[in-house]
Amino acid sequence: MKTHLVCCILSAVAVVTACGNQNGKQAAGNGMPVFLDDSKTMDERVEDALSRMTLEEKVTVLHAQSKFSSAGVPRLGLPEVWMSDGPHGIRPEVLWDKWEQAGWTSDSCTAFPALTALSATWNPEMSRLYGKSIGEEARYRKKDVLLGPGVNINRTPLNGRSFEYFGEDPYLTSRMVVPYVQGVQGNGVAACVKHFALNNQETNRFTTDVNVDDRTLYEIYLPAFKAAVQEGGAWAIMGSYNLYKGQWNCHNQYLLNDILKKEWGFDGVVVSDWGGTHDTKEAVENGLDMEFGTWTDGLKSMASNSYDSYYLANPYLEGLKSGKYDMQTLDDKVRRVLRLMYRTNMDKNRPYGSFASPEHAAAARKIGDEAIVLLKNEGVLPIKDAKKILVVGENAIKMMTVGGGSSSLKVKKEYSPLEGIKERFKDADVEYERGYIGDVGGEYNGVSTGQDLSESRFAEQLLKDAVTAAKNAEYVIFIGGLNKSDHQDAEGADRLSYSLPYSQDTVIEALASVAPKLVVVNISGNAVAMPWADMVPAIIQDWYLGSEAGHSLADVLSGDVNPSGKLPFTIGATLDDYPIKTAEQYPGVPGEEKRLGTNMATIMNETYSEGIFVGYRWFDKEKITPVFPFGHGLSYTTFEIGEPSMVGSAERGITFKVSVKNTGSVAGAETVELYISDAECSVERPEKELKGFAKVFLEPGETKVAEITIDKSALSFFDAGKHAWVAEKGDFQALFGTSSRDICRTVKFTY
Ligand code: GLC
Repeated sequence: MKTHLVCCILSAVAVVTACGNQNGKQAAGNGMPVFLDDSKTMDERVEDALSRMTLEEKVTVLHAQSKFSSAGVPRLGLPEVWMSDGPHGIRPEVLWDKWEQAGWTSDSCTAFPALTALSATWNPEMSRLYGKSIGEEARYRKKDVLLGPGVNINRTPLNGRSFEYFGEDPYLTSRMVVPYVQGVQGNGVAACVKHFALNNQETNRFTTDVNVDDRTLYEIYLPAFKAAVQEGGAWAIMGSYNLYKGQWNCHNQYLLNDILKKEWGFDGVVVSDWGGTHDTKEAVENGLDMEFGTWTDGLKSMASNSYDSYYLANPYLEGLKSGKYDMQTLDDKVRRVLRLMYRTNMDKNRPYGSFASPEHAAAARKIGDEAIVLLKNEGVLPIKDAKKILVVGENAIKMMTVGGGSSSLKVKKEYSPLEGIKERFKDADVEYERGYIGDVGGEYNGVSTGQDLSESRFAEQLLKDAVTAAKNAEYVIFIGGLNKSDHQDAEGADRLSYSLPYSQDTVIEALASVAPKLVVVNISGNAVAMPWADMVPAIIQDWYLGSEAGHSLADVLSGDVNPSGKLPFTIGATLDDYPIKTAEQYPGVPGEEKRLGTNMATIMNETYSEGIFVGYRWFDKEKITPVFPFGHGLSYTTFEIGEPSMVGSAERGITFKVSVKNTGSVAGAETVELYISDAECSVERPEKELKGFAKVFLEPGETKVAEITIDKSALSFFDAGKHAWVAEKGDFQALFGTSSRDICRTVKFTY
């Protein structure tokens, strides 16, 4: 890579010097043109590069030249910009112009846990490790932009892409996304935080126009993006497919110009989602900087010469030449792209990365170990000295790294739960029964799992065989849940039911009737109905953990790892427990017709009338008892939370200190969650809101003091009338707990 870059630079220097500095620009004292001189500041280099670019060159860097790349300026030695999905690993290479596989043999990656799993660790250091590791893989694959992470809030448990996001709470999502972004960008690879904004479902994702009040927008749906930009320093943001206030979000004046660039001071690039650009004038004037994935009017979709017809290609160039569009707006876009280049592929000091390494597998396993959530355990786990274990369920064997949409991967290796269990419990007799048939597919975008999941037995026989085997087993581990097929945990379509698919409930209940030591492992990216929760002695919320899935699960089942995960979303009994009640709320109701590409489309108007009452905020407000609450997660040991103390003031910052003692016999970690309650306020507020947390690792008998610091922002609500965050004077409560429903300590204070 270095050689290539130096050649580019030398050739550019030669060109610039040979034909005289274009525009009569003088080279820096050392003979090196400023834009190529890394002793100069980025802004100096950007301005010098901009001054040397022709109008055509400026336009050409604003749009794709292939499926995942945009052009550079060869004449000046400015390289192409290459992008790649996704949030959980680096997507296998596709052909220049097509979604088909390029057929490389060197792009089998590490699949890291899904981001809902990362969130469940409640450990920002795991996010930093994650970002660094995935950034190294992107860097090694010569990708300048990683199309992730996604930070959309889990508004409905039906959302097909929840597995790619951090759950239902904006504060948890904010704390976890910042180190991920920093970890990625430490490799000289831009994180492209997505999907900005209000992309909280997959159903009608291209045509949903979201109507949401400002307070809800600022308190629930924007914080994670704001944190990623202002604290994480994100170099790129991806606009979302849907609409807000009648404008497509890939070119939305309110979101991109008013909020992202003006209010938040974002100096990076706004990248469209693939195919999310629909109009040149809007794209020019409403904040889009780089157009990707468009299948433009008048040309065959995905035609190789369609790039010149992109909305920000020739139509934009013609508009600039005719005076329809101003040069100032153009230069702002180009400056942002140039900054992206100088932060990535023009930084010759950036590291070289690494790919599918043992270190990355270890990182995936470590994150997975901390992500698994022990929901219930009545004396069954951990499994010790087992003689006969029966594993039941398709998710014990089915590869989950293939499928689910753009986050789908081609992995070097994926350890299945059954493999992990067999490897760890090698002294036991481990048998397997399918239990049910789910999705026998195993191919996405030309990548195949190679698994043959075909099954000749029918459901009744599968159930009968599983129950018969269970009667003769000491432990029965049911491993089911959702998968990455359509209408499950997958992009492009939402779930059609809150219940587990494939009659899994029937299988679980049948096993519960014959197996006293039954463990149910639910693998999903969303909450699911658990009607059998009272019948089952042990329940684990597992996730799509990627390459090391089987190892992490076995680590926890065996007690080699003491589980410390906490739920990043609420698990309700039924879909009715959640705030969405009407078609207007979801999936939306038909509205106007709007041009979408070469066709007209019916816009679906959707109103977030539940407002800020999403997730536990709603369950608290409506006094609904969840099956398992937000923030819940057990351990193989026990902990004692001491009486908190507080110092400081809301103006200068309040630091709470709270002791945590491991009162059990094995090492473990507990997360102290701090919720703020503002009972007396001029506006309705949630009963409590997460505003701090600290994860503490303790040996048996050890005590540590957790410190959580808050400032006035933790007391504030967004006053839409003033368009400002407001903390009203009065009494507040700091609620300390081990879940949103297990509050064990309270500190009253006044602001
Ligand atoms: C997809 C997704 C986005 C992804 C992009 C490129 O449609 O919405 O998350 O990064 O297109 O594959």
